Amino acid sequence: MEKGKVVLAFSGGLDTSVCIPLLREHYGFDEIITVAVDVGQPEEEIVRATEKGQMLADKHYTIDAKEKFISDCIFPSIKANGSYEGYPMGTALARPLIAEEIVKVAQQEGASKIAHGCTGKGNDQLRFDFIFRSAGYDIIAPMREMNLTREWEICYAQEHNIPVPVAKEKPYSVDENCWSRSIEGGKLEDPAFHPPEEIYAWTVSPKDAPDTMEEIQIEFEKGVPVALNGKRLPGIALIRELNQIAGRNGVGRNDMVEDRILGLKAREIYEHPAATVLLAAHRDLEHLVLTRSELAFKHIVDDKWSELAYMGLVHEPLFHALTAFIDTTQERMNGTVDVGLYKGSVKVLGRSSDAALYSDDLVSFDSKTIDQNYAVGFSHFFGLQARLLKNLKKC
Ligand code: ARG
Repeated sequence: MEKGKVVLAFSGGLDTSVCIPLLREHYGFDEIITVAVDVGQPEEEIVRATEKGQMLADKHYTIDAKEKFISDCIFPSIKANGSYEGYPMGTALARPLIAEEIVKVAQQEGASKIAHGCTGKGNDQLRFDFIFRSAGYDIIAPMREMNLTREWEICYAQEHNIPVPVAKEKPYSVDENCWSRSIEGGKLEDPAFHPPEEIYAWTVSPKDAPDTMEEIQIEFEKGVPVALNGKRLPGIALIRELNQIAGRNGVGRNDMVEDRILGLKAREIYEHPAATVLLAAHRDLEHLVLTRSELAFKHIVDDKWSELAYMGLVHEPLFHALTAFIDTTQERMNGTVDVGLYKGSVKVLGRSSDAALYSDDLVSFDSKTIDQNYAVGFSHFFGLQARLLKNLKKC
């Protein structure tokens, strides 16, 4: 039997609530400290976690990490055009930060172990474990170690007077932060099942969205959004407002089969209206500002960055090296992008930047700056080796 203090990553949901009596009764800890980290979950979730933590644990912390989440996780992901298998990561970006905040509490409290409520099937167990192990902590994961089922957890919770938050009629697992909303589980586990409209909370169905295009403007400085429709806003306010605007136009839904780190394929549904718009606008602006070589190489870097971010391997030295490359390219990424939102689609309508590598004088059909005959010399050497080979084959 364990003794001493344990710090538990706490959301106030069924899994982590059940962990509290389990850590006492099954694992024998004397003191359970719960930590909820606010990365932009719905207000009522944070209130629920705080109240339940205070009621059920020996000590509870709620930590506001919203600003840090934007500056340290979301903004770098925008600069990296962060996406995994075609969706803007949300849960993956938040987990390392949540874990780091939990480590801080564990160190401050002198806890001997850290516990979390992840199962043995998902990605979050690996993302959490990596950070906790990097900080030198042993991990307790009751759900994973005891192979618990939801039904058993509900009974155990009822026996321990723990309010059961997941009602039978709402059988989905939802993970939300200000960048994205992930919905999985229940009937959605069948990839052939058509998701009911009720699972969505941030977006209207494109068919119910307005019949006219809504036009907006986003301004970027050094690769991150700083203003929406000409109004300078702090990151969190900008993302929240854009979630509303894009969501009411049905933008930012994703229903996909995803390859988890373990190799399991899983059906996942996401909502990320602001992320969809910001990533589309950012990528478009890069085509105006970066060189062809930078764009081609950055594409590879972005992919690798995203894969490591998805796995939560934020201490991997390669991740730091890729981030440094990305930051260098973003130094000149200033400009504005006009975007049209219409019934679920995002269309860039125009873009401009003082750092544009675009010259309308040079490219224009009417320009006299460049004598078109200059191209003739270039053309003589163009594809030279392929042409030589083709002629060799004729002999
Ligand atoms: N598959 C996603 C990821 O690994 C989302 C997981 C979200 N969790 C949830 N309980 N809905 O990042």
